[in-house]
Amino acid sequence: MKRSLALALASAALCTVAWAHQPSARSAADLMDTLMWNREPVGGPFTLVDHRGVRRSDQDFRGQFLLVYFGYSSCSDVCPTDLQQIALALERLGPAAAAVQPLFITLDPERDTSARLARYVPAFHPRLVGLTGSPSAIRHVADAYRMYFRKVPAGRGDYVVDHAAVTYVMDRDGKYVGFFPPGTRAERMLEILRPLLASQVR
Ligand code: NI
Repeated sequence: MKRSLALALASAALCTVAWAHQPSARSAADLMDTLMWNREPVGGPFTLVDHRGVRRSDQDFRGQFLLVYFGYSSCSDVCPTDLQQIALALERLGPAAAAVQPLFITLDPERDTSARLARYVPAFHPRLVGLTGSPSAIRHVADAYRMYFRKVPAGRGDYVVDHAAVTYVMDRDGKYVGFFPPGTRAERMLEILRPLLASQVR
């Protein structure tokens, strides 16, 4: 499963639309290399705070498939597009969507407080859980997922966050299954998710 997914999803790109700065090719390449060829374990324990201000750990989500997306609420293009497709996929799954938990983990914890995420995530899907935490907690979970991200100054004290835009699929035990590259349509997600859900019925 892992290998076929990785091969099928070989066209992964980066969330750098409209940003003048290039990401560090080295780190972004490392992420892709890891995801494509399973060079290192992907995912791991985390303790963060959700958009309702409740502490949540990875253990809270055992028994459900996870769609894990890293981004930030000020991202103007790729994040919203991908989150919309995740939401659409969940809608089309119908009752089976209960076995899938979508998570949005911010890469901009300084600005993306719980309160801010509380205004952001429900716009996409009522079951989308936004997660934030201290900068070190965010760095920790991002590293566990081998996520590439980097703060880039945008003038006048402002900044953007360069980041890879992949949707990780984790199984009911929290193990990495595969990923969807940026721009994946809901229908494509369903082609992967439906058989996956059927094969791991509990
Ligand atoms: Ni983004």
